Amino acid sequence: MDFARDLLLVLHIVGLASIIGGFLVQTRSSRKRVEPAMLHGALTALVTGVLLVGVAEMGDVDLNHVKIGVKLVVALVIAVLAWRGRKASSVSTGVWGAIGGLALLNVVLAVFW
Ligand code: HEM
Repeated sequence: MDFARDLLLVLHIVGLASIIGGFLVQTRSSRKRVEPAMLHGALTALVTGVLLVGVAEMGDVDLNHVKIGVKLVVALVIAVLAWRGRKASSVSTGVWGAIGGLALLNVVLAVFW
């Protein structure tokens, strides 16, 4: 179970790195878009996050369910924004900023809460 948890955590972090990487490389572009890496990262972080909760529950680990609930809502908003913008040739700076900013928020919540 420890191996499964560690593997999922690695994939979880790859997912969040993909969102934030796809966000950061566009900082200086005038036209922002939803890079495929951002969408795939959002889905990866979401799915592995839910699986991490499952593995923790099976292993009898005490999770902070309020924190998990908040992270889940934030991740769902990111996924919806990324999904809706996936085919657009560009998205507003607000949508781009919300995807990156909310991903950073979830990192802060994960580490500090
Ligand atoms: C964009 C979305 C997300 C980001 C950026 C993110 C970020 C992180 C980070 C940085 C960690 C490592 C924290 C540490 O080990 O100290 C982590 C762990 C974890 N995340 Fe997420 N997360 C996201 C979505 C989710 C979702 C949707 C869930 C569940 C519904 C979730 C559940 C978890 C769990 C269970 C852990 C492991 C905690 C532990 O075992 O200590 N995450 N997340």
